[in-house]
Amino acid sequence: MKEVKVALLGAGTVGSAVVRLLQANAEEFNLRAGARLRVIGIAVRNLEAPRDPAIDRALLTTDAHAIIAQADIVIELMGGIEPAREYILAAFAAGASVVTGNKALLAEHGPELYDAAARAGVDLYYEAAVGGAVPVVYGLRESLAGDRVTHILGIVNGTTNYILDEMTTNGESFDAAVKKAQELGYAEADPSADVDGYDAAAKCAILASLAFHTRVQLSDVHTHGIREITPEMIASAGRGGYVVKLVASAKRRADGIELYVGPTLIPAQHPLATVHGAYNAIVVEGEAADRLMFYGPGAGGDPTATAVLSDLVAAAHHRVHGGLAPRELAYGELPILPPTQA
Ligand code: HSE
Repeated sequence: MKEVKVALLGAGTVGSAVVRLLQANAEEFNLRAGARLRVIGIAVRNLEAPRDPAIDRALLTTDAHAIIAQADIVIELMGGIEPAREYILAAFAAGASVVTGNKALLAEHGPELYDAAARAGVDLYYEAAVGGAVPVVYGLRESLAGDRVTHILGIVNGTTNYILDEMTTNGESFDAAVKKAQELGYAEADPSADVDGYDAAAKCAILASLAFHTRVQLSDVHTHGIREITPEMIASAGRGGYVVKLVASAKRRADGIELYVGPTLIPAQHPLATVHGAYNAIVVEGEAADRLMFYGPGAGGDPTATAVLSDLVAAAHHRVHGGLAPRELAYGELPILPPTQA
């Protein structure tokens, strides 16, 4: 069986889960990939930091470029824009395929990365960038290639869904709910990316690019967060038969696309109204298929690692045996319209 060398950049919650699950299921994943998947190195910022016991410390390095140069596949799980962008471009230049979960990077520099991968004749996979374990990237890119998507409406940020849920169910204030989300490890010490809607907006840009085969960036998404939502507003919405959810909406119009992230009144009988806690759900409407719903754990180490690992298996299989490559994006440029309603 041919060996595929894998370099991992980042050994945080998701990176550690990737290593652990890869070890636990090595035989099955190798069979599915048709190749022996071997981690040749793990790049981290601090060699001395405490690590998951699954991580072999002998594989740790601070020299990302050294392991990228030897890899067939690079898994980027560092997050942030730089140096993640620089490392991914270096991987393409070295002929490696890349698996990433970096939604902020894709939403800001997606077109540059897609083009660089195409020029290098390698592939870029990013199932983990949206919806954790929920296979919505594959669903939009491959399963729905036989339809014209007209609307995506989704809860794509688990942290804000948890916060709004707490405010709805327990009448908590925004600040108290944020504190609980931090204690549970959902929200960061600085919760801005979640509560101000930017994490959801990055995911909205990625989903819209996939759904409408066009280039959408973070700055194209009209974005509002949930800081101004009060328990009183939520209670009043409830009396009217609605729940308040932070949604991402991408809608196809005759003359372009509308992109919006913000708190929205969802009728209590709508499928999104029943999504609780840190779960994600994305409703996709196709012209012919009608309404589909993708639903599941939108964050967390193990669920998100499954998305990374499915990309790894696909990337390895494609490198060794040919077969299914990720469908290319950006067939056209649709105008971005100001939003009317979600
Ligand atoms: N902060 C994100 C969320 C993590 O709460 O959904 C997953 O992208």
